[in-house]
Amino acid sequence: MFGVWKRVDTLTLWNNIKEYPKASILSLFQTDAKRAESFSFAHDGIFFDFSKTHLTADLLDKFGALAQSLGIDQKISALLSGERINVSENRAAEHSAERGVGAETSIENAQLLQNRMKALIGAIDAGALGEIEHIIHLGIGGSALGPELLIDALKIGDEKYDTAVVSNIDGSALEPVLEKFDAHKTLLVVASKSFTTAETFLNTESVLSWMKQEGVDDPFGKIVALTADPEKALEWGVDESRILPFSETVGGRYSIWSSIGFSVALTLGVEAFEDLLAGAKTMDEHFRDQPFEQNLPVLAAFCDQYYLQSCQYETRAVFSYDERLRLLPDYLQQLEMESNGKSVSIEGEQLTLNSAPITWGGVGTDAQHAVFQLLHQGTQVVPVEFLAVSESGHSLDPAHHQGLLLNCFAQGAALMAGKPSDDPHRNYPGDRPSVTILLEQLEPSTLGALLAFYEHRTFVNSALLGINPFDQFGVELGKEMARKLSDTDGNQLDPSTEQLKKRAFGA
Ligand code: F6P
Repeated sequence: MFGVWKRVDTLTLWNNIKEYPKASILSLFQTDAKRAESFSFAHDGIFFDFSKTHLTADLLDKFGALAQSLGIDQKISALLSGERINVSENRAAEHSAERGVGAETSIENAQLLQNRMKALIGAIDAGALGEIEHIIHLGIGGSALGPELLIDALKIGDEKYDTAVVSNIDGSALEPVLEKFDAHKTLLVVASKSFTTAETFLNTESVLSWMKQEGVDDPFGKIVALTADPEKALEWGVDESRILPFSETVGGRYSIWSSIGFSVALTLGVEAFEDLLAGAKTMDEHFRDQPFEQNLPVLAAFCDQYYLQSCQYETRAVFSYDERLRLLPDYLQQLEMESNGKSVSIEGEQLTLNSAPITWGGVGTDAQHAVFQLLHQGTQVVPVEFLAVSESGHSLDPAHHQGLLLNCFAQGAALMAGKPSDDPHRNYPGDRPSVTILLEQLEPSTLGALLAFYEHRTFVNSALLGINPFDQFGVELGKEMARKLSDTDGNQLDPSTEQLKKRAFGA
């Protein structure tokens, strides 16, 4: 009986939000002279401004009441104390333990494994695996997107190792790397939580063949394996001393903090990796300790859900106004869409709310000259997230950075203000929402805090939807079909697929 009452109550709370009258963003600024200050927060080098949204103090209260009734504070503490909240896989989701926030034994275990990783890095730096200049990091999804983003964002150009992250099964991704690198000076990092992923292993075989062809004596001796299944790596032939395990409770798309971050720590230095973890930890503590009304991931999730459920906007766009963060939209796509792209609740019931929005985006100012037309005048409204960094990452004329930031801010202002015209072709409707995240500097600690912010925001979104963000059964069917298609034992799929196969490979 209580359960039924609770459900009705939650429905009413959602309806209060959905039916809340929407005032234009400009009018919200007109009626509240302090809106810019009240709808923005700073935490540890991250400034989050959501004043250019339709959120009001009343709406935030309603979201607060909903979050309370859904027990989101208890869910946050369950997440951050290592409870088994990934119920469909019967395990905890312990990425924060890698940063020092979680169950005590899990934190200890994470630290032991990180120390093992640091010891191997020290040995490689000291020449234990011979002269190494190049690193090929093979992995896909969560085993590649984080390492690639971090190395790309934080490298300054004078690193000891030249690192390439290769994920795609398409040989066109790997071949240029093999052409560029010296096989005798290459370390091969195989990153796979499950240690079974087809793309990663085909690429691994190709790198090993290349090493053999180039006359490397013991290619297997140049492999470092990053995995939650160390037994598999051992069976496959990697020496135990070069296997860096991590906990099964760290999900693939949440794994950059674990030994999956090995290539990051090797390339950028252990100190940078430690700063990354420390930055993420401050966000964990903020998320755990701050009340909803001052909690960045919670407030950002309220914005997300408002546009998803009240306005039914199906996508959200993230634009990095900083070339160093050009891979962030890709990283967020996996984090948000693989976590929250589900149709059923944790209890297995059909969702009546929209699941994750489609995350897409690009880099400013390039995107302004390509996709922003639709953002300003298309029939679809897309909530936009702008990301910028106050301090530039280059030494060219400051005019570059000034121009970049001014463009970023101007786009948010233009989306909101619009510009009426009697000529329908030249009319800008305006009232289009955006949030802006402004980082003081792009340092490992700030980026750590930013990525943890996105993880927790994704978690709050899942909790508001009532879904489990930590499984990803939806990716399995495609893998199964690919296996069936590659069978030669006469397995037939549908006529269209069979026709494509014939056309590509011949009868
Ligand atoms: O197929 C999806 C997925 O399982 C992701 O969740 C994961 O990040 C990626 O593949 C790679 O998996 P693994 O690290 O086990 O190779």
